[in-house]
Amino acid sequence: LTKSVTVSAPGKIILTGEHFVVHGSYAVAAAINKRVRVTVSESKENHSSIVSSGLSSKLDSNDEKFPATKAVIRQVQKELGHLSEPLEVRIESEIPAGSGLGSSAAVSIACTAALTRFVGSTIDPQFVSRIAMMGEKKVHGNPSGIDVEASLRGGVIMFSRKDGVKTIQTKDAIQLIVIYSGKKRSTSRLIAEVARRKRSYPNFFQLLADSASYQSREVVDALKDGDLQRLGWLFNIAQTELDWIGVSTPFIDKLIERISIGSFGAKITGAGGGGSIIVAAKPDAISTIINSISEEYPQTFITSIPQEGLRWE
Ligand code: PMV
Repeated sequence: LTKSVTVSAPGKIILTGEHFVVHGSYAVAAAINKRVRVTVSESKENHSSIVSSGLSSKLDSNDEKFPATKAVIRQVQKELGHLSEPLEVRIESEIPAGSGLGSSAAVSIACTAALTRFVGSTIDPQFVSRIAMMGEKKVHGNPSGIDVEASLRGGVIMFSRKDGVKTIQTKDAIQLIVIYSGKKRSTSRLIAEVARRKRSYPNFFQLLADSASYQSREVVDALKDGDLQRLGWLFNIAQTELDWIGVSTPFIDKLIERISIGSFGAKITGAGGGGSIIVAAKPDAISTIINSISEEYPQTFITSIPQEGLRWE
């Protein structure tokens, strides 16, 4: 029998504070009902490889495929030693790549955990998030760590670089609509553009960053009270600020406008520049909104939050 281990980790949405969290603000994120599954097994070949949606790459090749996953596997091999046999690392993802829904973090988390379990070591959450961050740095340049923590822990989290992660209890499950615009973008490029804007307008940027922290506390209160209307209002404020720092696009603005009748509020989630939006819809308008856009945006879905983090399959 071939030894094999499968784990899964969720994608995430950021409810408030994206980008500003890179510069020290508080942000709130939640795991979603779309997951990545990673299976590690002994390989029948004489080399280790990574396989995902029809693509495959040898671990020791220098092609451009799977840079983050390769960094994660090499680091686990280095730190945990005894991973000498040829392995197959198989990735199956329900999260579109480049959509702002945290697919890369979920892959790195699931991969680190699966490899750790494969060698029989116990899972230390700090180890998993530290190694997964190395993968994130390969693709994002300067990640804050919020994606990795949301995927690992699940639920709803408040996060800052200084204070780390805190789990938030919600009153009830909350339903949000997630619309992937279909427009892929590069998180690292957007992070770099925001940093440029911060250098040009440091005082103004600081005001917005402080405001993002304040909004995050308000979002936590809205979630604790189960107050969807207040959450939507906070989404609208966050969206305005994200627009000011240049990460919304006319296309996204139009999409938000289009669903505005049935919504309390909507915003970009994640790095922006395309990617996905989240909508706090009026409960009796959810199906109308979805029906009105699902043909054009087939990757629209409802997620309830909270959701489970890393889990064994
Ligand atoms: O779009 P995503 O899933 O890559 O989210 C990135 C969130 C940022 O705040 C823009 C970056 C970060 O690491 O916090």
